[in-house]
Amino acid sequence: MSTRGTARSAGPSYQSVIAEDPTPPPASLRVEQFDWPGDTRVDRRRYTSREFAALEAEHLWPKVWQMACRLEHLPEVGSFVTYEVADVGLIVVRTGADTIKAFHNSCLHRGTTLAEGEGRVGVFRCPFHAWSWNLDGTLRTIPAEWDFGHVDPASMALPEAAVALWGGFVFVNPDPQAEPFEHYSAPLAEHFAEHPLDDRYLFAHAGRIIEANWKATLEAFLETYHVAATHPHTVRFANDNESQTDTLGPNLTRMLEATGVPISALIGKVSDREIAEKAQRVLPRRYQQPVPDDVRARTFLAERMREGLSELWAVDLSGLSEAELLDTDQYHLFPNFFPWLGVYLPIAYRFRPWGDDPQRSLMEIMVLHPKPTDGRPYETASFQLLQADESWSTARGLEQLGMVFDQDTDNLVRVQRGLRFGRRDEVTLGDYLEIRIRHYHHRLDRQLGLS
Ligand code: FES
Ligand SMILES: [Fe+2]
Repeated sequence: MSTRGTARSAGPSYQSVIAEDPTPPPASLRVEQFDWPGDTRVDRRRYTSREFAALEAEHLWPKVWQMACRLEHLPEVGSFVTYEVADVGLIVVRTGADTIKAFHNSCLHRGTTLAEGEGRVGVFRCPFHAWSWNLDGTLRTIPAEWDFGHVDPASMALPEAAVALWGGFVFVNPDPQAEPFEHYSAPLAEHFAEHPLDDRYLFAHAGRIIEANWKATLEAFLETYHVAATHPHTVRFANDNESQTDTLGPNLTRMLEATGVPISALIGKVSDREIAEKAQRVLPRRYQQPVPDDVRARTFLAERMREGLSELWAVDLSGLSEAELLDTDQYHLFPNFFPWLGVYLPIAYRFRPWGDDPQRSLMEIMVLHPKPTDGRPYETASFQLLQADESWSTARGLEQLGMVFDQDTDNLVRVQRGLRFGRRDEVTLGDYLEIRIRHYHHRLDRQLGLS
């Protein structure tokens, strides 16, 4: 009998694990919702060919919502950041106390970029012949204006991209006619309603050049199937094949993975005491405690997290459930943004091609700590770029997490090389555990006009 669309691991489901937790999880984590996306053909040349990257440059990046920066990157009127991907280049700028705009970063005279990197300006002034624009994008001056009598100043405003704010992030869509972000991202806002990421600040922000296609890199974070092989030090406390995969909307999927439950192969073979002992090591030593014999691992671990993180971050986490404190509650917004709900790993990822090379990408990790409530000062982290051969552990603020991310990304060099060397046209995806990758490629097909 075919198991297409119904295949599931025999172990206890994520829902059955959280049903036993003493603190009820929020309603959004008690939902299980997926549509099996049907058969999925993923040609390996999607990851290697310049032709496919060119399709993405034409039909994907200019037409989808993308996270450009955090609001804290734009503290004052005139603060700007540039955002680039493929042939899209935008200046995202605060134009007023409550207004943020995004302009295509190209001089309307002969094309020079109007801004580089980030900073603060009063006007955008082109370095080449000094045409200038006001912060709101209207034309300000054309030197030797007598020679441009044929140009109507009113038609020379900088072309704009659509802008939306959510969770303290600024999103842009280069297409000004884009569908509203709220509609595109649904039900993202609903799921995060009780966990507003607006209340976080950027504790760390690092990026690393990865010698692999941006999709291959991103897909390493769309499944937990790799946990046992790639992260062997976590096998006693991080589940793999029983994690829950949800397809929540055309552009939103998520994965819920239990902590305090071992990988499938070890379920029933390790004691809760051993699980708790290993898992509590993610906390600073002063918050770790001797583990009693009769303990339930998740209950013990959640208590350590509640106590430790509340003090460490100066926030009150006493009301959070075990699921919010311990689990991987990771969402993916098409095409390249991953916000995490919960506090176990308070992070977000973004993935982009690196330049126009389909064999390289930029992966970014943002660590978003809750804003302290005791008045202690906190600072927005500056961005740190790591080269392909540098360890994530060398990034400020990532130290402990670095090893796990190195494990994830070290595989990718080999993934990319092997995709090039393959002789079968297609990769082979799991039916359930890799459902988000299936969903993702179906969505990409529609975007690129391939289905
Ligand atoms: S190219 Fe910008 S002013 Fe000439
Ligand atoms: Fe991983």
